[in-house]
Amino acid sequence: MSKNTEENINRSMDQNIEKISEKYMERAIELAKKGKGAVNPNPLVGAVIVKKGRIIGEGYHQKYGEFHAERNAFASLKESAEGATLYVTLSPCCHHGKQPPCTDAIIENKIKKVVIGSFDPNPLVGKKSVETLKKAGIEVVEGFLKEKCDSLNDVFFKYITKKRPYVVMKYAMTLDGKIATKTGESKWISGEKSRAYVHKLRNKYKGIMVGIGTVLADNPILNCRLKNQKVRNPIRIICDSKLQIPLDCNIVKTAKEQETIIAFANDKLPEGWIVNKKNEENKGENKEEIIKEKISSLQEKGIRLINLFSEKGKIDLVKLMQYLADDGIDGILLEGGGTLNDSAMASNIVDEIVAFVAPKIFGGKSLSPVIGEGVEKVSQAYPLELKEIQQVGEDLKISYKVKNNM
Ligand SMILES: NC(=O)c1ccc[n+]([C@@H]2O[C@H](COP(=O)([O-])OP(=O)(O)OC[C@H]3O[C@@H](n4cnc5c(N)ncnc54)[C@H](OP(=O)(O)O)[C@@H]3O)[C@@H](O)[C@H]2O)c1
Repeated sequence: MSKNTEENINRSMDQNIEKISEKYMERAIELAKKGKGAVNPNPLVGAVIVKKGRIIGEGYHQKYGEFHAERNAFASLKESAEGATLYVTLSPCCHHGKQPPCTDAIIENKIKKVVIGSFDPNPLVGKKSVETLKKAGIEVVEGFLKEKCDSLNDVFFKYITKKRPYVVMKYAMTLDGKIATKTGESKWISGEKSRAYVHKLRNKYKGIMVGIGTVLADNPILNCRLKNQKVRNPIRIICDSKLQIPLDCNIVKTAKEQETIIAFANDKLPEGWIVNKKNEENKGENKEEIIKEKISSLQEKGIRLINLFSEKGKIDLVKLMQYLADDGIDGILLEGGGTLNDSAMASNIVDEIVAFVAPKIFGGKSLSPVIGEGVEKVSQAYPLELKEIQQVGEDLKISYKVKNNM
C-alpha cells in the first residue's frame, strides 16, 4: 500500500470516528435539555456511556439538588462500564456539593476515556476535574462540540461568572416593528405556535419581569401553561415605581399561588426589602403613609416588595439584578413593554433578545419594542450579534446576543 493511500484511509477513519463521536455528544445534548426549568441555578448537563460502539448508559441532571448527569448515567447501566467512553456536555464536578464528586464515580466505574463539551467556569470545578481524571490514568478530550454544549448553559455561565441573572428580552412585533395598535391593542400579534413557544421560555427562566404599563394595559397573569408537561411558574417581578398596581388585578389576585416581587422606588422610605409593618399605625393623609398602607395590603396578598430607587426616581435595574441574583434567580424573561425594555438596554442588563416577527403591518406611530428617547446617531446603536433564526408557525423567531453587556 502506498504512503498516500494509507494516509487517506487513516484520515477517513478519523473522520468516521469524529462523526460517530458527534452523534454521542448530540445525544448527551438532547438529554441535557430535558432538565430545562428544573435544575436552576445548576447547569443543564447530559451524559452518555459508550462501549464497543453501543450506548450502554445515559442520564441527565434532572432536578436541582439531585444526582448529576454522570451519576444518573451510571445508575442506568445494565453492564460494567469498564473500558467505556463517557460523553458529557460539561466538565464533571470534583467537589462535594449537594452530591458527591462525579470524578469519583468515573474512576470507580473504570471509564477509559472522557469526552467533555463545555468547560465549567465554577471555581470549585475549573481545571481540577480534568487534572483529577488524568491523574487516575483516564484519557480526556476537552471542548468537543463546545459551541453547541456552551449554548445549553448561557444562564449558568452568566450567573456563575458574574453573579447576575441572564436576561432575555422577548417581544412579538409586526414586520413594521409595532408591539401594539394605535389604540394599544396587542392581543394577538404573534400566532398560536409562537405563543406556545413563549410558555417554553417561561418554564426555562426562573423569573419573568414586566413594567407597570404592561400590567395596567393587559392585566396579565404571567404564568406558564404547557400542554401535557409538568411545568414551573416563573417568579414574577413587576417594576412599579409608584406602586400603582391595582389590588384587584390578576397578578395580585394570584400572588399566593405564584411568587411575586414588586420593585418600587421611594427615596423617603428605606432602601432594600420592606419588612412587614402590619401592626404599625400607618393610616394618614401624607403620601408616604398612603404608600405604606399600599405596601401592607400587597404584603397581605403574599407579595414581596423591594425599594430600589435610582437618581432618576425610577427603579435602579442594576441593583434589582443584584438582589434577584442573591435570591437565586439566575435567569429572567423580560416581557416589556417598550419603556422598561429601553431602561433595561440602557442599564446594560440584557444578554439576549428574542423577537417574534409576525407577518402583519400596523402602520402609524404606535408602540415599538424599545421606546425611550432613542439614540441620535447610527453609530450609537446597541450592537447585536445574530444567534438563531427559526420559523415558528407563520412567524419568525429571531434571537440575538447583546454585545458589550455587563
Ligand atoms: N407585543 C409585545 O410583545 C408586548 C409585550 C409587553 C407589552 N406590550 C405592550 O406594551 C404596552 C406597555 O408598554 P409601556 O412602555 O407603556 O409600559 P412598560 O414598559 O410595561 O412599563 C413602563 C413603566 O414601568 C415603570 N418603571 C419602573 N421602573 C422603571 C425603569 N427602571 N425603567 C422604565 N420603567 C420603569 C414606569 O412607571 P412608574 O414610573 O410609574 O413605575 C414606566 O412608565 C402595552 O400596550 C402592552 O400591551 C407588548
